[in-house]
Amino acid sequence: MTDAWWKSAVVYQIYPRSFADSDGDGMGDLRGIIQHLDHLAGLGVDVLWLSPIYPSPQDDNGYDISDYQDVDPLFGSLEIFDELLAAVHERGMKLVMDLVVNHSSDEHPWFVESRGSVSAAKRDWYWWEPAREGMEPGTPGAEPNNWGSVFGGPAWEFDPGTGEYYLHLFSRKQPDLNWENPAVRSAVHEMMRWWLDRGVDGFRMDVINFISKVPGLPDGPVPAGSAYGDGSASFLNGPRIHEFLHEMYEQVVKGREALLTVGEMPGVTVEQAKLYTDPDREEVDMVFQFDHVWADRGPDPWALQRLKLTDLKAIFGRWQAGLADLGWNSLYWNNHDQPRVVSRYGDDGEFRVESAKMLGAVLHLHRGTPYIYQGEEIGMTNYPFGGIGDFRDIEALGQYAQAVEEGRDPEDVLTVLRARGRDNARTPMQWDTSPHAGFTTGTPWLPANPRYPEINAALATKDPDSVYHWYRRLIELRHTEPAVVEGDFTMLLPHDEQLYAFTRRLGPTELLVIGNFSGTPARAELPDPAAWSSAELVLNNTAQPPADWVLGPWQAVVYRREVTA
Ligand code: NOJ
Repeated sequence: MTDAWWKSAVVYQIYPRSFADSDGDGMGDLRGIIQHLDHLAGLGVDVLWLSPIYPSPQDDNGYDISDYQDVDPLFGSLEIFDELLAAVHERGMKLVMDLVVNHSSDEHPWFVESRGSVSAAKRDWYWWEPAREGMEPGTPGAEPNNWGSVFGGPAWEFDPGTGEYYLHLFSRKQPDLNWENPAVRSAVHEMMRWWLDRGVDGFRMDVINFISKVPGLPDGPVPAGSAYGDGSASFLNGPRIHEFLHEMYEQVVKGREALLTVGEMPGVTVEQAKLYTDPDREEVDMVFQFDHVWADRGPDPWALQRLKLTDLKAIFGRWQAGLADLGWNSLYWNNHDQPRVVSRYGDDGEFRVESAKMLGAVLHLHRGTPYIYQGEEIGMTNYPFGGIGDFRDIEALGQYAQAVEEGRDPEDVLTVLRARGRDNARTPMQWDTSPHAGFTTGTPWLPANPRYPEINAALATKDPDSVYHWYRRLIELRHTEPAVVEGDFTMLLPHDEQLYAFTRRLGPTELLVIGNFSGTPARAELPDPAAWSSAELVLNNTAQPPADWVLGPWQAVVYRREVTA
């Protein structure tokens, strides 16, 4: 296994189309990233993860790749990529690429060839199936199975040219690759080695626990009120997934030290994650689990449910305990698929700054590798979306269409999309107070959040009390305090609905972290308060330290003590 340098690292995710536009076409690009590298180096992050920059029809903003070994002209070129990589390395940071190989674009030459005829050489590089027995191909309900796609509608597209259907778990422009075929696997491995030879430092693997499917692709159960079956039992953590990941390790990673591999794995359990991240099994370094970002999701997808803090703590507590001895956690609140955490689990009004800092501290001081999503470090908020016409995301549009067709009240659907939709994360990075937040001199592909005059990087870097400098201090603490990296984790106050509290212990050093997840003061009923009476207050996001363990609204504190006995 590679050495575990990433245990003390912090990763920063860049969504290139929304980060910085250098040429005024309204779309972020690689030169824009190069121009802003000092913002990231100043923050102190160790690794940059780039969401896809490959040639793509942009049906799903680049998660539909038509050439795995080039750069989309929207973003630049391979030459500019090399410049970026060198500039990242010069600053002592690493660069991780997004690897999207559960599916390609339908415009990828592999798929173009595959759909050419039933006897095409690459026919079985994808999942082709005839119509359901006894049904007329191409007619409603004749799909090979009942699965719905993640983006709404059926997971199968009829191809009139050959009279068969292909599987697409996401959009119809994202056909699933058939990993049963060894030629597919070796083509992917070769492509990965090509990027590593170019100098990249690892991969974030898109929905990688979807790549092994149960043979026969059986129908799934149909959730109440839904038009489609849920096929996830047949493609989440499927029968050959560990074999495929170990093979990838053998073919690509082995012998190359200092890489980082992280698998995005919706629906992964702690037990499965242990297997995926056990170093001896040689699969991946860590996984992205989803339990904590699904904690505010109720049984009805189109009804908002408030987060219960005790649920969130139970989730993190389970993951921390489960991977305490074997494997490793990744830690994130945000990415390009999630709404802004300060709007979701914090207070983006009166206590925006305090709650953004509290959320940062609680997350970063767990055991695991933290990920920051662009804008999180300045406390960016959700966007005030109006009607469906304000959304650009294929998921929001597809799910809205399906829900309305299934008879849902469009207003209910919009309420959920406004709070949870992925476009919240995708509005332009807010750099300064100039038009469009300094993101572009042109017209941005998605409008800037109107709060940019108040929330932007220029203001935040100048203000020593900003969210930015708080994140900088959190990262510094990870780099200087071994208990943050290696310390044991103990959850305290699991039944408290306002306070999140835990300790980290490494040798004689113990840290105590307490965060108030509410706008009202709360007293921490610590099991052993006397032990902390002369502890050092390392971080505090408000002017006053807590008196008698009463934390103010959204307050976060971190104490350190040396245990003598
Ligand atoms: C997960 C990615 O994070 C998301 O943005 C994308 O839509 C799907 N995978 C499909 O690639």
